[in-house]
Amino acid sequence: MVKNILCIGAGYVGGPTMAVIADRCPDIRVTVVDINEKRIAEWNSDRLPIYEPGLEEVVRRCRGRNLFYSADIPRGIREADVIFVSVNTPTKTFGAGAGKAADLQYLEKTARSIVEYAEGDKIVVEKSTLPVRTAEALSRVLHANAKGLKFQIISNPEFLAEGTAIADLNDPDRVLIGGMETPEGRAALEEIVSVYARWVPRERIITTNLWSSELTKLVSNALLAQRVSSINSISALCERTGANVHEVARAAGRDSRIGAKFLKPGVGFGGSCFKKDILNLVYLCEHYGLPEVAEYWLDVVKMNEFQAARFVGNMVDAMFNTVAGKRVAILGFAFKADTGDTRESPAIDVCRRLLAEHAELAIFDPKALDNAKRDLADAPAGAVKFCASAAEAAEGAHAIALLTDWKEFRELDFEEIYRSMQKPAFLFDGRDLLDHRRLFELGFNVYPIGCGALTHFGEA
Ligand code: NAD
Ligand code: UDX
Repeated sequence: MVKNILCIGAGYVGGPTMAVIADRCPDIRVTVVDINEKRIAEWNSDRLPIYEPGLEEVVRRCRGRNLFYSADIPRGIREADVIFVSVNTPTKTFGAGAGKAADLQYLEKTARSIVEYAEGDKIVVEKSTLPVRTAEALSRVLHANAKGLKFQIISNPEFLAEGTAIADLNDPDRVLIGGMETPEGRAALEEIVSVYARWVPRERIITTNLWSSELTKLVSNALLAQRVSSINSISALCERTGANVHEVARAAGRDSRIGAKFLKPGVGFGGSCFKKDILNLVYLCEHYGLPEVAEYWLDVVKMNEFQAARFVGNMVDAMFNTVAGKRVAILGFAFKADTGDTRESPAIDVCRRLLAEHAELAIFDPKALDNAKRDLADAPAGAVKFCASAAEAAEGAHAIALLTDWKEFRELDFEEIYRSMQKPAFLFDGRDLLDHRRLFELGFNVYPIGCGALTHFGEA
């Protein structure tokens, strides 16, 4: 019976996941530790380190009861019977595999801490997204101990999406748990199943061998990203042919074999997972001697880069082949709505391309401005302004580029915004979020993704 869970890594996954486990399992003591003491202090404060709808309520309910955020890693390890490892596994930026392989240094450091401080046997759960067969290396590091300690390794990848993390954790499509096919491995797996079974229907808890579980996480993200790249590729064709990508997606998605989800065209996918995990998959395919498979998946990333480049290309074309010295209001910088996270946000790429064209940027995002400032810290002096509202960003601008699907952008006073802008006023809707016909009627020249532009130029 699991009594004491430790999670190493208090990030976007560790923080919310453990909060929900604590909420659902009041008899289990859940502790979350991190080497980043500032982050831990924030988890213990009124201003949590990440924005996630519904998170604050769960944390407030459980913190100090059976949920603890702590910087005391040795104590946490000593006291836990189950340790979830939820550290970051970014793309390697140096050495062999740079630009594709996962950087596993944080995982290995965590394993070494476990070995150093553990005083008894433990179940170690891979919550981070990892290359297939990582458990093998993890097991070797953990078992290279002189204390005679035994560790059971379980893979339990996380499928939450940011912005809907709490809902995803409370009501997951599935929970995946992989273990070794030995009696001890099966017993450890059942322990982890028993934690989730408190609130997840048993038929949604899938158990597999370790390698299938590790690989499924990479494959799931690759398949989701592939759908986004697929529809984005079609959006380019729609813009050339007069077809409407939304009509195409709706009609194609009605086939139950295809399905309607993840066919929303846009300026490209972002987030800390899709690109990193596909590149990791590509690296694995190359490593295992499958260059054709590697190339196939790499195209999903290339199509994503093409979409952002195409978006900026369309902007420059429309604005008489130059944006130099023109003010462009950037509405939204987060990689999607309902998060302040900007990791791999397409806004970064779009803004860099606009800066390379010597545009002046005025950026507003309801939750992501601090991260945006960090992401664009190396922009030319004076070329980027960060604004307190969308109206402030748009004032005096030649164009608006909408890059994040924040619902509140729909409620903006576009009549007033139009009045405050330079004319002709351009609006590039990188998420097809707004009412284009109405904006056109207000006077904007509107450029959606994947369907015809609405401009006033033909009327002259
Ligand atoms: P994150 O960067 O937000 O958090 C990771 C935390 O681990 C950081 O706070 C870091 O300080 C801490 N850490 C690193 N090394 C440590 C060590 N040796 N000891 C203690 N703490 C250490 O990352 P994240 O977004 O939470 O992602 C974590 C993992 O989950 C990654 O493998 C990621 O691919 C995967 N994942 C992320 C998401 C997502 O939506 N962000 C979803 C599913 C899976
Ligand atoms: C993703 C996976 O969905 C989740 O299961 C996994 O655990 C982590 O990675 P996340 O990156 O948080 O989650 O968000 P997601 O909703 O998947 O969106 C990723 C990106 O794709 C965003 O930039 C989003 O705007 C974009 N997207 C998504 C589209 O452009 N069109 C779509 O139809 C769906």
